[in-house]
This record gives sequence, structure tokens and C-alpha cells, in this order.
Amino acid sequence: MPDKDCDYHKGTRPTFNLSFCPFSLGIFLGTAVLVALNRRQSQRNSSEDETLPTCQVVFVLGGPGAGKGTQCELVTQHQPGWSHLSAGDLLRAERQRGGELGDTINKCIADGRLVPSKVTCRLLEKGMHEVYAKSGGTKFLIDGFPRSQGNAEAWKDTMSHHKVEFVLFLDCPEEVMIGRLLERGQTSGRNDDNMQVIKKRFETFELETAPIVDWYDQQGKVKRVSADKGQEDVYADVAALFETL
Ligand code: C5P
Ligand code: MG
Repeated sequence: MPDKDCDYHKGTRPTFNLSFCPFSLGIFLGTAVLVALNRRQSQRNSSEDETLPTCQVVFVLGGPGAGKGTQCELVTQHQPGWSHLSAGDLLRAERQRGGELGDTINKCIADGRLVPSKVTCRLLEKGMHEVYAKSGGTKFLIDGFPRSQGNAEAWKDTMSHHKVEFVLFLDCPEEVMIGRLLERGQTSGRNDDNMQVIKKRFETFELETAPIVDWYDQQGKVKRVSADKGQEDVYADVAALFETL
């Protein structure tokens, strides 16, 4: 027995089978709206891209536990106009949103490996837009990025018009960094602050990050600060670098 809701067009309109009943039409229209919204969102994003002026950027690198986040916070407290964007924090926030991307991010973080560069770079780009839209800020400390050649290439693809002032490298002996991470692990709740993942994070640092630091070094872009001391003492050296900007 045919569904009469679908059958009434018979003879006057092309014959639809059951999969084209009004219910299916609803799904079709719903999908079309989603596609349109998606398209509008991406158009909005690209117009946002045009409105972000050339920004001043300092990349902040160093091994896990070198104190990148701590120093960035001190810079934002004492140096007017600078904002802090942590690649790791942005990835953890994105992971919280769940979904397939959240799963991918979690897998990489829990394994001490790097998340696909395009994902990280896009989050940074979005973060810069948000800061600019909110406060007009155009000076960014980008913490934990670029951590690999892939990260640097992703940056070059979409963000190369910004001015990278220098790469701040926080130099710290491995045993000091491990001690800090294990201590932080007691309260951080992070699933990568444990010895098993810490080892992998150091492997990733040696394999992926050290070569990119060398590469920036060859271009005279790296400013090294010894990070094996109290945070205020490290900051005194960091602050001196910002005086020159
Ligand atoms: O810098 P942070 O220690 O917060 O990074 C935590 C983790 O986030 C890294 O071990 C890595 O899995 C991921 N990450 C990444 N790419 C970056 C920065 C962080 O994949 N550029
Ligand atoms: Mg950090």
C-alpha cells in the first residue's frame, strides 16, 4: 500500500518513490541550509582574514617544561599590547569541543606527538582574529609553535605576511624540565604530564623541533635565554629582548 502523503502528486508531477516523501524533502532542505551556513561561515572567515592587519609576532620555543607559558604570561603582564596564544592551550580547548577532530587531537597529545599542522595553524589564526576583534591587539607571543617543519610550512602558507620579530628560545637542561613537568603533573590534570608521555614529548622535541630551531638560528632569528633559574630571573633576560622592539 503506497504512502498517501507521497502518492498525491502522482500524475501531476514526476513520480517520486518513497525516498522523496516530504520527510526526505525536509532532510534535503535541512542539509541545504547547513551547507549554506557553512559556506557563509567560510566567507566570513575569509573576510576576517582581510581585516587582520600585519601583526608583530614572537615565536616562543623550548623543550617541554622550559617555562614557555610562564614567561609569556609575564610578558603580557609587563609589556603593553602583547597577547599570549599557546598552541597547546588552543589544541586542548578544541579537544574539549569533542567530535572527530577532538579525538585526533587527543590521540596526538596523549602520545606526545604533533597534531596535523594545518589544524594548529588554523586555531592560531582564529585566535589572532579573536584578539584583534576584541582589543585591536596586533602583537602576539605564539607559544609552542612552530614545533616542526610542517608547522613552519603551514604558517608560511597562510600567515607569512605577519612580521616575526624573533624566536625566543628558552634553554633548559632536560633533567630540570622533567622535574618541573612531574611536579606540574601532580595538579595539572594533563594526560601528557606523566613519565611515559614526557619521554615521547622529548623525542618529538629532538626529532621535530630542534631542527626548526636550528633553521631559524641560521637566519639569525633566535634569541636564547637560559631558563634554568627562577621565573623572575628568567623574565629579566626576556624583558631585555622586548626593550629592543
Ligand atoms: O606546548 P604544550 O606542552 O602545551 O603542548 C602540548 C601538546 O600539544 C604537545 O605535546 C603536542 O601533542 C601538542 N602540540 C602540537 N603542536 C604544537 C603545539 C602543541 O601538536 N605546535
Ligand atoms: Mg605551555
